[in-house]
Amino acid sequence: MRRFAFPLVFLLAHAPAASAFADVEAGRVVYERWCALCHGQKGDGNGPAASFLMPKPRDFTVGVYKYKSTEGNSLPSDEDIARRVAEGMLGTAMPGWKDVLNEADRRQVVTFIKKFSDIFEFEKPGQAISLAGQLSGSPQAADAGREVYRKAKCFECHGDTGKGNPSKKLKDDWGEPIWPRNLTKPWTFRGGSDVKDIYTRLTVGIPGTPMPVFGDSGKPDALSADERWSVAHYVVSLADPARRPNPGANVIKGVYHTGGIAAEPSAPVWRDAPTVSFRLAPQIIAADRLFTPVVDQITVRALYDEKEVALLVEWDDPTPSRPGDKVQKALAPADMFEDAVAVQFPAALGEGLEKPYFGHGDATNPVNVWYWRAGRADAGAAYAMFDMRGAGTRVQRDPVPSGFSARGEYKDGTWRVVFRRARYGGDGDVLFDSGRLLPIAFANWEGSNGERGSKHTLTRWVWLWLEPPPSLKTVYVPVAVVALLAGGLLGVSARMRRASERPQPEKET
Ligand code: HEC
Ligand code: HEC
Repeated sequence: MRRFAFPLVFLLAHAPAASAFADVEAGRVVYERWCALCHGQKGDGNGPAASFLMPKPRDFTVGVYKYKSTEGNSLPSDEDIARRVAEGMLGTAMPGWKDVLNEADRRQVVTFIKKFSDIFEFEKPGQAISLAGQLSGSPQAADAGREVYRKAKCFECHGDTGKGNPSKKLKDDWGEPIWPRNLTKPWTFRGGSDVKDIYTRLTVGIPGTPMPVFGDSGKPDALSADERWSVAHYVVSLADPARRPNPGANVIKGVYHTGGIAAEPSAPVWRDAPTVSFRLAPQIIAADRLFTPVVDQITVRALYDEKEVALLVEWDDPTPSRPGDKVQKALAPADMFEDAVAVQFPAALGEGLEKPYFGHGDATNPVNVWYWRAGRADAGAAYAMFDMRGAGTRVQRDPVPSGFSARGEYKDGTWRVVFRRARYGGDGDVLFDSGRLLPIAFANWEGSNGERGSKHTLTRWVWLWLEPPPSLKTVYVPVAVVALLAGGLLGVSARMRRASERPQPEKET
């Protein structure tokens, strides 16, 4: 044994340093290949892709990590950073890497990014906060949490309904505008949406952002552990899962309805129609692109009767943008335009499942566009119909022969717009037959985010399917339709509100 003593001691003394060095070098390779595009060669968050992103990629040179589980102001643990690297950050450009990088690669890249800031040389990560004493979820816990939400003034930033209150213009520590999270959409929570994750955020805050720390017992506005658990349960209870976009969802199922189609976005009859939500992506193909969207999803329902078809289109938007509204103008980070939404269909349908060119059709395959805009504060909303044969070829049409109209309302952080049209409209109108799949796509403009013209968000082509009326239910339904429907349908949501305004048909050219 003796002759091994020296080398063994030598190895033990040097192994950690040597392997740490090897880790940093291995981490550098991973970083340069996968991370530098966004986070920058120097780790300063200024990679080539950074100017297109909102929120911005993290600047690692300052050593601030937002999603940590360690006490007080202490540094995050390696596990905290590794968890974000593995899982990514929902609702941002930060991808999850667990399917691309193995565990060793992820550990090494974490070791490497910590080297961008020397703070990790001088300070140690703190203790993980205790999750002991977790209250179990119950209606009582959520009710108590609602009180805490009020007492702790969460509503000042997150709004009464959790969808956001932009009455305060918020910036992060890097001077970038920042929006409080929409608490009804836990699928956009960056740090996880489990009650333990939310409790952790409330306890240590989100460093670098205005989200307060509620777990510091030395501060007057601190909340007790029980209060933090109950408000975390309340946040969980705000989720509206019927509006969660499902990447497999492709079909809006329109339901046959007798007794008249409602023009009011808040009419109870809309509860009978199933909801389906689609992600909105920024328009980055045509000139004047948008890279930093705020509105990220749209929810749609459809109803029809013998004569008419109607779509209810909803989206959460913390800012009802109407030029001339001084309050909203003051809150907008830059120029403010009006909020708007549009629906696009092919003007004519072939026999198969082909779709026109997405960018507003082309010369042989025109599209019909339905458009609604919030209008100026003093003039009110307006709607219009267009034919398009490619981008920039907009021809406005008289809505009357098509029986077309639209009406919108804004309430509690959500826009709701109803579009109606005769099923068999005028010349050049797409026909709304039941039992057929109709390509349909949506575009949205968030005026407070400087969106107008080709700067907007949009969905991909999806399908509208008017389910045959009950009397015809035994009709043959093509296999392709069955498959799309199976992947696509979401439950019925029961949240409807009152209508408030009646927009006029568009007067301009
Ligand atoms: C496509 C762009 C993109 C790429 C590629 C990317 N990131 Fe990110 N990353 C982001 C953005 C954007 C954020 C900030 C999100 C926010 O602030 O909410 C971020 C945040 C982070 C954070 C901060 C977590 C926290 O708690 O604050 C870490 C750590 C991170 N990224 C690591 C990595 C690593 C490691 C890689 C490569 C394996 C990588 N990122 C690749 C865009 C990217
Ligand atoms: C001063 C404004 C402000 C107050 C008050 C505030 N928040 Fe926040 N909150 C924010 C901001 C801003 C963010 C988003 C941070 C980001 O995007 O990096 C946020 C994010 C969150 C998140 C999302 C975490 C994640 O993983 O994405 C939750 C949950 C949350 N807040 C809950 C609460 C609750 C509950 C309260 C009251 C106890 C509260 N907030 C009070 C500003 C605030």
